[in-house]
Amino acid sequence: MTETIQPQPGIMEIALYVSGESTLVGKAEVLKLSSNENPHGPSPAAKAAFAAAAGALHRYPSTDHAALRRAIGEVHGLDPDRIICGVGSDEVLQFITQCYAGPGDEVITTEHGFSMYPILAHAAGAVPVEVPERARVVDVDAILGAVTARTRIVFIANPANPTGTMLGGGELRRLAAGLPAHVILVHDGAYTEFADGFDGGAALVDEFPNVVMTRTFSKIYGLGGLRIGWGYARREIIDVLNRVRQPFNLSEAQMAAAEAAVRDVAYTRWCAEENATWRKWLRNALMQMGVGCDESFANFVLARFDSADEAAACDVALKAEGIIVRRVAGYKIPEGLRITVGDEAACRRVVEVIARFKGVR
Ligand SMILES: Cc1ncc(COP(=O)(O)O)c(C=O)c1O
Repeated sequence: MTETIQPQPGIMEIALYVSGESTLVGKAEVLKLSSNENPHGPSPAAKAAFAAAAGALHRYPSTDHAALRRAIGEVHGLDPDRIICGVGSDEVLQFITQCYAGPGDEVITTEHGFSMYPILAHAAGAVPVEVPERARVVDVDAILGAVTARTRIVFIANPANPTGTMLGGGELRRLAAGLPAHVILVHDGAYTEFADGFDGGAALVDEFPNVVMTRTFSKIYGLGGLRIGWGYARREIIDVLNRVRQPFNLSEAQMAAAEAAVRDVAYTRWCAEENATWRKWLRNALMQMGVGCDESFANFVLARFDSADEAAACDVALKAEGIIVRRVAGYKIPEGLRITVGDEAACRRVVEVIARFKGVR
């Protein structure tokens, strides 16, 4: 027998996901600004709901997530029957790719796009097709120009990670309107709540049958450790996605915490305001030191140094002070460091260390 066990086509093309570092050798205390987490944590109501769920751990959870979908629908003004919940928005992205792309199909991603998109495309046996961005902003014409008869999905995050930039309403609509009917536009809204007044693409989903929006509880809701996300699309698409979803993919503890979090609108608004204040302050401070920084619409900024070497040296200087940020060479921005917007103390600390590194203080 010469035959050996082989994985499905595409699996071995996958480059393993690299998550933000969270520890430093020799440092008991670190300031972690590498994974875009909410520095204030979840709403107290979410923590209480999570604790209360401990009383029923022997029970299987609801399979239809009805209470959570109702809460999301009420808060965001959406039809709960057009919502699907997943283990992080990553799982919803996985459902979409698994259901709509297969061997030989093409999945369009962008130059600095979120690294899960090509991973998911490969996992489905499809071919990721990367198109250029224009000065770290998604380029609608480049995407439309790359569409072929084999294209099944276009992935964009808006606001984008790790650039923090955003496509305006007009450009976004032009993209959705320009895609042929056989292509799904996945509008990944992981950072929606940090972009003041933005609906995350919900109106676009209502207007175009082939647009799907994904959202997460990991960022503004401060529940990254609990893994809850959701998607919004036309009913026919939600019905398809539900067929590959495991019946008990979310625990009651996850759902209870998420429901309490989404209903705590005042806390969410406060987190968004704090983020906006310190994001602006951080960007201004970086630019005053001669560090490039595009306007960010998310909960992080992308600091651009003069070279990859300078970014690496600054990363070392930050780590020496116990501060972990994210290198983004893997996102084709070797001169960049992505810095999560922390609380006031965190922002001041990171700026102080970078200023010392740059010799301006
Ligand atoms: C653009 C983008 N989409 C999706 C996710 C996945 O988030 P989660 O699976 O925690 O909902 C992230 C997390 O970093 C992200 O940055």
